[in-house]
Amino acid sequence: MSAYDVIVIGGGPGGYVGAIRAAQLGLKTAVVEGRGALGGTCLNVGCIPSKALLHASHLYHEATHNFTEMGLMGKSPSVDWEKMLGYKDGVIKNNTQGIEFLFKKNKIDYIKGWAKLVDNNAVEVDGKRIEAKNIIIATGSEPATLPNVEIDEKVVVSSTGALEAGKIPKRLIVIGAGVIGLEMGSVFSRLGSEVTVVEFLDHITPGMDSEIAKSFQKILSKQGLTFKLNSAVSKVESSKTKAKVTYIDRKSNDEQVIEADMVLVATGRKPFTSSLGLEALGIEMTERGQIKTDAQWRTNVANVYAIGDVTEGAMLAHKAEEEGIAAAETIAGKHGHVNYALIPGVIYTTPEVASVGKTEDELKAEGRAYKVGKFSFMGNGRAKAVMQGDGMVKLIADAQTDRLLGAHIIGPSAGELIHEIVVGMEFGASSEDIARSCHAHPTFSEAVREAALALGDGAIHM
Ligand code: FAD
Ligand code: NAI
Repeated sequence: MSAYDVIVIGGGPGGYVGAIRAAQLGLKTAVVEGRGALGGTCLNVGCIPSKALLHASHLYHEATHNFTEMGLMGKSPSVDWEKMLGYKDGVIKNNTQGIEFLFKKNKIDYIKGWAKLVDNNAVEVDGKRIEAKNIIIATGSEPATLPNVEIDEKVVVSSTGALEAGKIPKRLIVIGAGVIGLEMGSVFSRLGSEVTVVEFLDHITPGMDSEIAKSFQKILSKQGLTFKLNSAVSKVESSKTKAKVTYIDRKSNDEQVIEADMVLVATGRKPFTSSLGLEALGIEMTERGQIKTDAQWRTNVANVYAIGDVTEGAMLAHKAEEEGIAAAETIAGKHGHVNYALIPGVIYTTPEVASVGKTEDELKAEGRAYKVGKFSFMGNGRAKAVMQGDGMVKLIADAQTDRLLGAHIIGPSAGELIHEIVVGMEFGASSEDIARSCHAHPTFSEAVREAALALGDGAIHM
C-alpha cells in the first residue's frame, strides 16, 4: 500500500500551497524539498527577499529625497548594507518557518532531500523509496544565462547573487529590462549605484501595454536609471572586482563595451528539472524544457502531475499557487480550475506597475473594437498628498458591450488596486459597474473609478 495519497516534489508556492489544499481535502500528503527550507525560489531567493530590499531602499530614498519637503528635518539615515541584508534574511526566515508551521498544522510530512522519480508511484530520496498514489512535480525554475556569460555570483550575478551582494556596487550593469532587472536595478539605484540597463528589444518590460511601458521607462529614467535599448549583449568578461559587458547596438551594428563593478544577468529563468529522472519515465517536455501537461495538470504519465514554473505559462508565484490548489482538487476528484486570462502581473518598483487582461496592443492585433478610459494620478488628491502623482490608470473595455477587457496601472499601490478589476472581470463587470460603485475618499482607488467614468460620460477630476 502507498505511504501517501500525494507526494509533492518541491516546496515552493506551487508545491506547498498544493500540499496544504491536498491535506485539507483529506489526502495524506508529503512534500520533498532539497534546499533545506520551504518556500522555494519565491520565499528564499525571489519575491520576498526582493520585496524586503525594495521596501528598505524605498524608505531610504524617501528619507533622503522627500522628507525635507514635508518638513521632516535632521540628519538623513545612512545605509548599512550588511544590516539591510540581515533584515532581509530575517524576513525570509520568518516566512519559511511559517510554512513549516502550516505543514505541522495540516499534518503534512516535510521530507528533506532531493527527490528522483523512480516510477509513476514512487520517488527516491537519499536512496530511500517512498510510494504515493499521485506525484506532483513542482520543482520550479532557475536563472537562465546567455552564451559567453558565466555567472560567478560575485561580480557577474543572477538575482540570487544580487540579493546577497558583498557590497553595493558603484556601477551596476543590468542585462535585461524585465521584471527582475528593473526591481533589483531600482534597489541598487536608490542605494547609490550608477545603474545601466542593457535591453535587447527596443522597449522595456516585454508584454506590458506599450503606453504604460513608455511611461514606466520615463519615470525610471527620471529616477536615474540609464537605458541602452536595442542592444544585444554578446559577451561578459570579468576579473575579481570588475566586469566588461560587450553589446551590439542593433541599429548601427556597432560593438560597444561598458564596464561595471557588478553585472546582473536578468534575461529570464528556465525550468529546473535536472536529475529528476524525467527521461527514464518518458515524461513529455516542450521545446523550451518545460514539463508538458493537459488542462488538469496531468503529464503524459498516469498519476504524475506538474505545476508552476516548471510548466508552461507565466513564471509567477500566484500562478503556481493557483495551479497547486487546482491540481490537488483534481486529484481529490473535484474540478480544479485556473482562469489563465485573469492572472495579474505586478512590478514592485516605485511607482508600482500592475496589469490584468488584454493590452491595447493585443486588442489592436486581434482587430477587436475597444475603448480606453484613462485617469492620471495627478488628479487624485491622495496621490498628491503623498507625493506620488506620477502615473495613470488605463482601463480597456469592449466598444459595444462595455465589458472590461483589461486594466493597466502605473502608480501608488498599483499592485493592490489591480485586484478590484481582477474581481470585476471574474464577474464579467462592465466599466459602468466600476464607475457606479462608490469608492471611499481620499483613496488611490478613486483613480480606478475615474478611469471607469472616463469610459462613460467622463471623469470628474480631469
Ligand atoms: P519554486 O518556487 O522555484 O520552488 C521549487 C522548489 O522545488 C525549490 O525550493 C527547489 O529547491 C525544489 N526542488 C527542485 N527540484 C527538487 C527535487 N528534485 N527534489 C526536492 N526539491 C526540489 N513571482 C511573483 O509572483 N511575484 C514576485 O514578486 C516575484 N518576485 C521574484 C523575484 C525574483 C528575484 C525571482 C527570481 C523570482 C520572482 N518571482 C516572483 C517568481 C516566483 O519566485 C516563481 O514564479 C515561483 O517561486 C514559482 O513557484 P514554484 O513553486 O513553481 O517553484
Ligand atoms: P524577463 O523575461 O522578465 O526579462 C528578461 C529581459 O531580458 C527581456 O526584456 C529580454 O528582452 C531581455 N534579454 C534577453 N536576452 C538579452 C540579451 N542578450 N541582451 C539584452 N537583453 C536581453 O525575465 P527576468 O526579469 O529574468 O524574470 C524572470 C521571471 O521571474 C519572470 O518570468 C517573472 O515573471 C518572474 N519575476 C516576477 C516578479 C514579479 O512578479 N514582480 C519579480 C521578479 C521576477
